Amino acid sequence: MNGQTISLLGTQVDPETDAVTVDGVQVHLAEKRTLLLHKPAGFITTCSDPNARDTVMRLVPAVPGLHPIGRLDKDTTGLLLFTNDGALTFALTHPKHVVEKTYHAWVEGVPDDAALARLRTGIELADGPTAPAEVRRLHTRNGRTEVELVIHEGRKRQVRRMLFAVGFPVVGLARVRVGPLTLGDLPEGRWRDLSAEEVATLYRAAGVENSTVQRAGE
Ligand code: URA
Repeated sequence: MNGQTISLLGTQVDPETDAVTVDGVQVHLAEKRTLLLHKPAGFITTCSDPNARDTVMRLVPAVPGLHPIGRLDKDTTGLLLFTNDGALTFALTHPKHVVEKTYHAWVEGVPDDAALARLRTGIELADGPTAPAEVRRLHTRNGRTEVELVIHEGRKRQVRRMLFAVGFPVVGLARVRVGPLTLGDLPEGRWRDLSAEEVATLYRAAGVENSTVQRAGE
């Protein structure tokens, strides 16, 4: 590596600054890439679909190993992260240190204070009780109300199920924040690369110090 012979197993390399050769032939180290997509409605979150439906992979570049971190429902819009860094996926989805996510949901009617209080305390769903959520009404228009929910968990259709359980079915749902990241002015259907600093803030938000932390012993 960089002109030196390495005999120590587990030596870490930085693909951006280190040159690695084996028997004189340069090894191309897989570049780590993390993207943020503003997901439109109508795309399912999966790497491949046996029924050939539109998947979110059609919206991002073909990078080896790139996969979505977590999932958004087909009809949910908003912030969806992709990476080929398995350690980042693990850090962000492990139940022990999942990061805060903010959702904006349109519901029929006007949720009353009692409904909001139930969401704040935690409610019983089929797969167990939810952790306390932060929740507030944003505004009401044409008989529908936009509600902001901040949750840490990432259970299937969780926001829809929580609001349904308190009597307010969701008619539109968007994720507007994951940990330190927001959509900014990124238009729907567009993606952008995250900077190394943004990736570092994601690791920190998940309570993991840096990307060299290994899975073993977690
Ligand atoms: N909760 C939901 O109900 N749907 C999503 O897509 C994300 C969170």
